[in-house]
Amino acid sequence: MYLTSLAIISATLIGSISAQTVFYGNFVHSVNVTSLEHATNGVIAVDRSGKIIQVETNASASQAQQIARKYGVSLFPLGNQKFLMPGLIDTHIHAPQYVFTGSGMDLQLLDWLNTFTFPRESRFNNTNYARSAYSKVIDRVIRSGTTAASYYATIHLEASKALADIVASRGQRAFVGKVNMDRNSPDYLIETTAQSLKDTEAFIQYVQGKKNSRVAPIVTPRFVPSCTSELMRGLSALATKYNVPIQSHLDENLDEIAWVKQLHPDQPDYTSVYDSHGLLTNRTIMAHVVYPSDAERQLLKQRGAGISHCPNSNLSLRSGIAKIRQMLSEGQKLGLGTDVSGGYSPSILNNIRNGYFSAIARSFEHPDDKYLKLAEMFYLATLGGADVLGMKSSIGNFVVGKQFDALIIDPLSHGSPIDLFDHDDIKTTFEKFINNGDDRNIIEVFVDGRSIHRI
Ligand SMILES: *[C@@H]1O[C@H](CO)[C@@H](O)[C@H](O)[C@H]1NC(C)=O
Ligand SMILES: *[C@@H]1O[C@H](CO)[C@@H](O)[C@H](O)[C@H]1NC(C)=O
Ligand SMILES: *[C@@H]1O[C@H](CO)[C@@H](O)[C@H](O)[C@H]1NC(C)=O
Ligand SMILES: *[C@@H]1O[C@H](CO)[C@@H](O)[C@H](O)[C@H]1NC(C)=O
Ligand SMILES: *[C@@H]1O[C@H](CO)[C@@H](O)[C@H](O)[C@H]1NC(C)=O
Ligand SMILES: [Zn+2]
Repeated sequence: MYLTSLAIISATLIGSISAQTVFYGNFVHSVNVTSLEHATNGVIAVDRSGKIIQVETNASASQAQQIARKYGVSLFPLGNQKFLMPGLIDTHIHAPQYVFTGSGMDLQLLDWLNTFTFPRESRFNNTNYARSAYSKVIDRVIRSGTTAASYYATIHLEASKALADIVASRGQRAFVGKVNMDRNSPDYLIETTAQSLKDTEAFIQYVQGKKNSRVAPIVTPRFVPSCTSELMRGLSALATKYNVPIQSHLDENLDEIAWVKQLHPDQPDYTSVYDSHGLLTNRTIMAHVVYPSDAERQLLKQRGAGISHCPNSNLSLRSGIAKIRQMLSEGQKLGLGTDVSGGYSPSILNNIRNGYFSAIARSFEHPDDKYLKLAEMFYLATLGGADVLGMKSSIGNFVVGKQFDALIIDPLSHGSPIDLFDHDDIKTTFEKFINNGDDRNIIEVFVDGRSIHRI
């Protein structure tokens, strides 16, 4: 399944010791929330375990050759136009909803769930159907340049296991969650509390038992309205027992918020409902968070929970525009999510663009919330996403000691939607790709230094 790059072959032939690949050429990555680094004569050396062992930003051709010789491999030259960038990170995606992505966007959240989402998800009680659908979504997401993702499956144990199997076999880095729903759900898509907890524990054991360093389980209560207090407490206990992260939805839509208030009148707000059930930890990922009060934002920050901003979804389901500028300045852990298929695009590039426009739209009415710059959007798509997944120390940019999760972008690939001119340098080429590029430009995808997709 893994395509082998030329450099890997030569490393094997020479029987070299440490480096697997030494890339030479342009690269772009985030160094922090406000700054991008553009290297034109960059060197990135990656060892056999996929770890980045050397990074240079301005090496001559002969210096690069020397580095490659030191590691006993031949150089992997990118040429003048291609460049490397870190893989994109999707902190919130519903794998089963891919089957209706891009259709049925005319309803708001609660009606949309009942009309489209729940009937489609119910079909995942058929594991063969699930396997076929999940193969398609994982292929699409990888081609779109997503190297790490946090997936929601459905309530079905066998189908959820199939999703974990497919992600593992394709070599992507991911959290996979079996969804929990034991109240306020249709008869055809509901579990008893006991079954929900039992299947979740079995799912966690199954995924952890795979001993795959890239794929891990995540506890996934769908959202407060679909989970009883007993279920939420039980899930918190499982997250602690097996040391796994947690994901759910928060403050997405005003009707949803009012419903939660009705269900839990004793709690001051939606965030506190999760917190009082032990579900708000420093490994929790909350999606949307469009309408958080000051107190809720403080509580999220205090607990160290991450926030998945899903701009396409917010606009498509008309949920609202998040206070991203404000949350960034507060130092919240923030990343981007496609929210397939509340968001109609499986591409994080699309969400960079929609996040950018969302922030501009918000800035019209809230002049203090300055719009977001490209560097900030790219940070959210890579390093910020890594932070939300609890992986900031191991992925998200090109730093010695991190794992090489990366994309080779060819702005002039066959059928490319981009044209270059003689004034274009790495900075403008990168900008053109981010704003107008697509999967035709993503010619190779690496996770842990292994090529998992190549065109
Ligand atoms: C980000 O990095 C740039 C370049 O290294 C530096 O000038 C800037 O102060 C950093 N900003 C923050 C917020 O750390
Ligand atoms: C890159 O290295 C060359 C040769 O050493 C030098 O002339 C040039 O100024 C350097 N560029 C940057 C951006 O550091
Ligand atoms: C699966 O769910 C569908 C509803 O979408 C239902 O018609 C069917 O009977 C279910 N099959 C099984 C095996 O439970
Ligand atoms: C997360 O919380 C746990 C216990 O609550 C603590 O041990 C750990 O250091 C925290 N991690 C981070 C990154 O804050
Ligand atoms: C969606 O809207 C909510 C509410 O304004 C906001 O918190 C969230 O960040 C938005 N997400 C995106 C991706 O714009
Ligand atoms: Zn969602």
